Amino acid sequence: MILVTGGAGFIGSSLVRHLLRTLDEPVVNLDKLTYAGNLQNLASVWADRRHVFVHGDIADGALIAGVFAEHQPRAVLNLAAESHVDRSIRDPDSFVQTNVVGTFRLLETAHAYWAALPRERQDRFRFLQVSTDEVYGSLDSAAPPASESSPYAPNSPYAASKAAADHLVRSFHRTYGLPVVTTNCSNNYGPYQFPEKLIPLAIHRALAGEAIPVYGDGGNVRDWLYVDDHCEAIARVLAGGRPGETYNIGATNEVANIALVKLLCGILDEERPRRDGASYAQQITFVTDRPGHDRRYALDAGKIGRELGWTPRESFATGLRKTVRWYLDDQDWVKNVTTGAYRDWIARQYGASADHPQGDHSGRRNGNAALSAHQGRI
Ligand code: NAD
Ligand code: TYD
Repeated sequence: MILVTGGAGFIGSSLVRHLLRTLDEPVVNLDKLTYAGNLQNLASVWADRRHVFVHGDIADGALIAGVFAEHQPRAVLNLAAESHVDRSIRDPDSFVQTNVVGTFRLLETAHAYWAALPRERQDRFRFLQVSTDEVYGSLDSAAPPASESSPYAPNSPYAASKAAADHLVRSFHRTYGLPVVTTNCSNNYGPYQFPEKLIPLAIHRALAGEAIPVYGDGGNVRDWLYVDDHCEAIARVLAGGRPGETYNIGATNEVANIALVKLLCGILDEERPRRDGASYAQQITFVTDRPGHDRRYALDAGKIGRELGWTPRESFATGLRKTVRWYLDDQDWVKNVTTGAYRDWIARQYGASADHPQGDHSGRRNGNAALSAHQGRI
């Protein structure tokens, strides 16, 4: 039995599907079902009797202890988190509560459970912390990619909360001997990603005829990895990662945001041409930058390749096209997740232009900081 937390989210649901497909073992999936958690993401495994869903909070120690006692997991894969940088800037509280306090409670409960196991089960137990490259902070354009020995230098409340959690995880290994492993992964993309993140947001807004917001000058660089490759890497680390070690996961695929958004527009032009024949690229709009916006992330993922033989399968070109096609084919999913609370967030973050019909990209009705201060289209 494996306990996955956050398994109703973007990466977590992909991981649950991956584990059930590749292992002959039940999975307990514990998720609080925040705005980012969605049981629809798990539709394909809902009828699988090996999948047990528990609605709960990783910060609820009593509930977690009950889950450990009942299901006796051999491993915990902790993906539960608040994950969106822009939300962490506007409202950091929930990030500290879930990412720091929640991870601490989960660790504490896992430790009590682990300490009472017989020796041979103790040795096999793993607490796997799923973390991010954002803990390493921003890199200069000429700097080498971050390796596992790079210092932590988080800049956003999100990154700081993940860094704090990683340090707690490390301390439970050093102090109590809990067999932990930590993975630091670069930006993920793929199906089921909530359309607050750049790629699904750009696809959604392009199709809705709305402005596609690019922060600052669009020169910020992210290192993109297809979500299923991430999940396969997590499974490798679970199977063969050494306790106390950290493993970077990335595809050496650095892309500037503006180049990425243009690529997406090009794919959409081919897959679902605009009715007026113009390119979706006309909707790209530069908007006020994110405060503290990290300029560049890049990961050296050599260690997981050398030690565990993992390499990504998906190329960016094929992964991006698959992702666009998924969003085009699964418009019901998109409709369901872009209701009330989503609209409130978009209005807060981007202003009234969220509702502009195709053709009206003037930004003149904007009521918010980002788009009202917009610097013009390309
Ligand atoms: P997501 O926001 O799509 O999903 C997070 C899930 O966690 C949701 O299902 C939510 O309901 C659940 N959750 C939130 N608070 C909870 C709590 N207190 N208790 C239980 N469940 C809770 O996030 P994601 O993009 O799937 O990211 C998953 C993990 O991977 C996170 O830990 C994130 O930091 C990490 N990560 C993400 C990326 C990325 O590009 N998305 C990259 C590297 C690492
Ligand atoms: P995001 O998907 O939020 O991931 P992260 O901040 O964790 O890297 O953003 C990816 C990049 O895209 C990041 O440099 C911020 C930028 N971005 C925009 O330019 N416009 C947007 O509307 C969003 C949400 C992000």
